[in-house]
Amino acid sequence: MEIKSYLTKQRGVVEQAFDSYIPAAEGVFRDHIEALRYSLYAGGKRVRPILCLAAASAVGGDAVAETDLLPVACALECIHTYSLIHDDLPAMDNDELRRGKPTNHMLYGEAGAILAGDGLLTWAFDLLSNPAHGNLDAEKRLRIIHVIARAAGPQGMVGGQALDIAHENTSFPFETLQTIHRSKTGALITASVLAGGIGAGANEKQLDALKRYGDQIGLAFQIVDDLLNATATTEQLGKAAGSDAELGKATYPAYFGVEETRTRAQGAVKKAKAALAGFDSKAEPLRLLADYIYTRSH
Ligand code: IPE
Ligand code: IPE
Ligand code: MG
Ligand code: MG
Repeated sequence: MEIKSYLTKQRGVVEQAFDSYIPAAEGVFRDHIEALRYSLYAGGKRVRPILCLAAASAVGGDAVAETDLLPVACALECIHTYSLIHDDLPAMDNDELRRGKPTNHMLYGEAGAILAGDGLLTWAFDLLSNPAHGNLDAEKRLRIIHVIARAAGPQGMVGGQALDIAHENTSFPFETLQTIHRSKTGALITASVLAGGIGAGANEKQLDALKRYGDQIGLAFQIVDDLLNATATTEQLGKAAGSDAELGKATYPAYFGVEETRTRAQGAVKKAKAALAGFDSKAEPLRLLADYIYTRSH
């Protein structure tokens, strides 16, 4: 299997699902829905929904169709997209460019962007809990909702964002940096993998392995984000390069330099793949995704 064609195919699957779920920008809420659709369709890589579907395939066996997990996959992308809209706000990272396009607040204003984020976050839980979408039984659905809510909330992504902002222009031990990375970025990535596993009926041993895999690729993902911010161009990234240093963010390259950072990211990817040792060839997409997280160029 080739990662590039796999990603293209899976992006298509996720985007087609979005088309069928997302409300049209019409009627009385048209402007608000247009603002959230703008960011949802702005060209994200769809890593989290693809990980969710890949984890389900890795577990296989159970007759869970991809279609049953599509609402979950889309909900993960909605939560991720909301986090980026808010992350870019002037009060946070103050970015004007995202995915090669103006950030949400540049087009819809700060209030519009805050509300687009709020709308996406809330709509994610509508999608997750709506029995009209997918055939997941209630028990799995509830467990998935809990895993995602926990990961996205105050002890996960939002907590990590709060720590990230609070630590700008300060010095602190490396352990704190790791906590920031694991929570602001790693938590939702781990939850994406676990949600796919739960939906596909993974046993506790498999879920434990998927969690270890998710934790390592989640950490690797943010290490590489730091690395790219320091080494790639704005054109290549579709978002402002060099902004971490400007904002006084603590990053892996700031702690360790570029070379040691690369080694650490590779180490995390290796540990992630080792966690999948008990899985057969159905976990091949997860293995390729782990490599992709390190080799990606944006
Ligand atoms: C960027 O995430 C922000 C982080 C959590 C590091 P992605 O690199 O997945 O962003 P898109 O969705 O592909 O633009
Ligand atoms: C983003 O982290 C994390 C979340 C949005 C939860 P960054 O601020 O480092 O990501 P980019 O570089 O803006 O995409
Ligand atoms: Mg940020
Ligand atoms: Mg940012």
